[in-house]
Amino acid sequence: MQRTNRRGGPFQQALAANALVLAVATTGVHAQDMNTARHLAQTCTNCHGTNGLSVGGMPSIAGQDREYLARQMRDFRDGKRPATVMHQLAKGFTDPEIDALAAWFAAQKSPARR
Ligand code: HEC
Repeated sequence: MQRTNRRGGPFQQALAANALVLAVATTGVHAQDMNTARHLAQTCTNCHGTNGLSVGGMPSIAGQDREYLARQMRDFRDGKRPATVMHQLAKGFTDPEIDALAAWFAAQKSPARR
């Protein structure tokens, strides 16, 4: 049986996705580890685009202010900011994970500012 085993191929991405679910399910996540943040962030890219640079109707979160991003996540989670999906998603993350996500997306390239 032939197996695609290239680095970064769909097979690896599927593995990474599984690892992410495990990482989130356990508490052994080191929030300051940007590599961990990158893995956490993969749950966001389906909607917010690769590296948080959104292409469709979703807001781009790449390169936005770190404090702003973290506050939005907490506001979603605590029901302070109305949302269609983010209030549910935000509940899945601890405070350190939210900070790690915010730091990671803040460090991504943003489109030219208006
Ligand atoms: C299912 C699609 C989806 C996923 C997955 C998703 N988001 Fe969102 N996000 C949205 C939508 C839609 C909004 C607009 C608010 C709403 O309606 O929920 C939003 C809004 C936001 C905002 C506010 C942006 C602004 O400019 O104020 C932030 C921050 C954010 N998302 C972060 C994240 C992070 C971090 C993740 C991964 C943990 C994530 N999102 C995963 C769909 C998604």
